[in-house]
Amino acid sequence: MNADLLITGISQLVTADGPGLKRGPAMRDLKIVENAAIACTAGKLLWLGPRSEWAGKAERTCDLGNRAVVPGLIDPHTHAVWAGDRLADFEARTSGATYEQILAAGGGIRSTIRATALASREELAEQAQPRIDALLRSGATTIEVKSGYGFTVEAELRMLEAIQSLAARTRATLIPTLLIHIPPADLANRKSYLDQVCSELIPEAAQRKLATSVDIFVEKEAWHPKEARVVLEAALKRGLAIKLHTEQFHRIGGLELGLQLGALSCDHLEACKDAQFGAFARSNTVATILPGVSLHLGIPTAHGRQLVDAFAAIAVGTDLNPGSSPLYSMSSALALAVRLNGLTAPEALVAGTANAACAVGRSDLGRLEAAAPADFLVLQGRDWRELVYTLGANPVREVWKAAERVAA
Ligand code: NIG
Ligand code: FE
Repeated sequence: MNADLLITGISQLVTADGPGLKRGPAMRDLKIVENAAIACTAGKLLWLGPRSEWAGKAERTCDLGNRAVVPGLIDPHTHAVWAGDRLADFEARTSGATYEQILAAGGGIRSTIRATALASREELAEQAQPRIDALLRSGATTIEVKSGYGFTVEAELRMLEAIQSLAARTRATLIPTLLIHIPPADLANRKSYLDQVCSELIPEAAQRKLATSVDIFVEKEAWHPKEARVVLEAALKRGLAIKLHTEQFHRIGGLELGLQLGALSCDHLEACKDAQFGAFARSNTVATILPGVSLHLGIPTAHGRQLVDAFAAIAVGTDLNPGSSPLYSMSSALALAVRLNGLTAPEALVAGTANAACAVGRSDLGRLEAAAPADFLVLQGRDWRELVYTLGANPVREVWKAAERVAA
């Protein structure tokens, strides 16, 4: 076997094992190889195993100095493109107003939509770049990025174009999602916007390949499940995958709709209860939980433990956004999922790698195995569990993408 690069000095090589979604006890099944080595060719993994078993030739070698290696993390849920800030909301909330009250009064997401409307595509991309850099540095080699801060077809397309332009400036792989976030305030515009979303926005986003999925926020202050069904069916008709922001504050039927339509993922789930946990076991829809939101808004945490025990396949994301989760670190999101949502360390790793990859429609990513892209993280220490143990410092020493060190 001839490799471009042989990487040695790996105390532990840790990965989810085998293809597909991991649910229930399979979320705890890690493959751990001690004293390992990785051989790479043309940006891909050629061979992995115990160092002593490598019998091939390599053009170059690199010694990591006895450190743990895990797959590059996949952040399956961000709103990394926005303009303006939400510091006034933050202050109001710390004085007692709730997120939903601020939104109902015309602030919150609506204020970010007003600020985003004033920014050009290039300004949006420029402002988002350091956010993507921070996520990459925290270990996210693949990052989903949503639009959603527009009330017009033009504003949503501009956001998707900003994501496209951002993708050209980062080594992280960006997965673009068209988010139909909240409706215009008056009823007449709400109906006509919905029509435009289905007849213009979704077809154009699909045709120009500006998005691979369509997401919609189903909530009392956002879209009704009946409206969401129309949007999601329009997306499916154009060959796009679908996702939902649902059960964040109330249970109004979003989760059931998502499962029925075969969504890639249903995200948030803080208000999810009882029989809903088991419903995921019968579907391939990923349950994506977002601990940064519970921490920042002080709302209940999604029942991660119950979900895993009920055989749901869980993913974890940062939900990086200015209003509900200013969390710029994917490794911290995993660390929070262990503390706030009751995941074990192995479950958190699988939730941030193999399952998160499925949640963005990229089941080829998130695992270290022969022929997969050589996207991996070198941790600071010898024990991989530091990835989800560390708070307030970066447990990731080096980020490798396609067999190249892209952040250190
Ligand atoms: O995932 N809940 C809806 N949407 C986003 C928040 C966006 C915002 O507050 O700007 C979320 O929490
Ligand atoms: Fe979100």
